[in-house]
Amino acid sequence: MSDSNDATKKLIEVRGLKKHFPIRRGLARRQIGAVKAVDGLDFAIYEGETLGLVGESGCGKSTTGRLILQLLHPTAGEVLLNGRNLTTLSPTELRQTRRDMQIIFQDPYASLNPRMTIGEIVGEPLRVHDVGNAVSRKNRVAELLNMVGLDSRFDGRYPHEFSGGQRQRVGIARALASNPRFIVADEPMSALDVSIQAQIVNLLDDLKRQLGLTYLFISHDLSMVRYLSDRVAVMYLGQIVEMGGRSAVYERPLHPYTQGLLAAIPVPDPDKEARRQHAILQGDVPNPANPPQACRFHPRCPLATELCQQETPVFRNLGDPDAAHWVACHHAQ
Ligand SMILES: Nc1ncnc2c1ncn2[C@@H]1O[C@H](COP(=O)(O)OP(=O)(O)OP(=O)(O)O)[C@@H](O)[C@H]1O
Ligand code: SF4
Ligand SMILES: [Mg+2]
Repeated sequence: MSDSNDATKKLIEVRGLKKHFPIRRGLARRQIGAVKAVDGLDFAIYEGETLGLVGESGCGKSTTGRLILQLLHPTAGEVLLNGRNLTTLSPTELRQTRRDMQIIFQDPYASLNPRMTIGEIVGEPLRVHDVGNAVSRKNRVAELLNMVGLDSRFDGRYPHEFSGGQRQRVGIARALASNPRFIVADEPMSALDVSIQAQIVNLLDDLKRQLGLTYLFISHDLSMVRYLSDRVAVMYLGQIVEMGGRSAVYERPLHPYTQGLLAAIPVPDPDKEARRQHAILQGDVPNPANPPQACRFHPRCPLATELCQQETPVFRNLGDPDAAHWVACHHAQ
């Protein structure tokens, strides 16, 4: 978990990515607008890194993850895996590529079929992709269960016989079954007790090192993101407003939105705590069907000027060439 980016190979690249969900009304289901859930993303995820994606509810984090995995088709833009454009693949090509990219969901209970044993659940991706035979698959399932810290003798049990943390381990084992290189973890801890969260975080971190995985780690929990991520991207109303190395973003946040998000984390020092209260974000996220003009954050921004209401800020690099720190704010310096 270093800040520097040793690996320079882009595993995932996103170019001009958009997802507008149509809003339809009436019997004719006429389109009357669109929810601009993701509205122009350009970034890369480097081999071996964990990129944390943060932002308030409804900012488009899950939609971004689903677009990268091709679980949703973009309205515009491209997603590249190892330089190969995934948005134009045939269904057969896409099916093969899916083995390389997996998702870990927020709610391990809802995402596990209650009528399947955990052995069947973890082995399902192997069957779907026709990997090996019944014996080799059983051995692989045992290996996967051990890898996530579960006793492989329990492979005949059902999800309801396990605790929340154990079920999330099953979900992780299933995600790993096809030997993926890239994993989207979408709020993987938020349904779990705090005491269990740390165990799952450590498991994800160990697995990353052992298996050389690359993660997009989506979370509301800024402390968790700080712990796990090499770089962090901050999303607001379908766009990335700040992106940089973990220490840079947490210790020198450049965007007023990032500053507001970080100010929402309580601190033990009473003086700092009093100052923190002032910086907390005011108001709610505006409707993504009708986002504010120019800088989308201006109605909530304590530093907004007239310029912010008139011109869209450019995404600029204020960091060093080898430690980029990008921000979309007219007044950041
Ligand atoms: N299938 C869909 N159809 C219509 N609108 C959708 C759909 N999926 C998401 N949205 C809308 O797109 C916006 C972004 O949603 P998304 O789930 O990506 O946000 P999020 O950042 O993951 O939020 P949360 O932190 O609550 O999980 C929201 O306004 C949401 O209501
Ligand atoms: S561009 Fe203006 S409104 Fe937007 S974040 Fe910067 S200061 Fe605030
Ligand atoms: Mg989400």
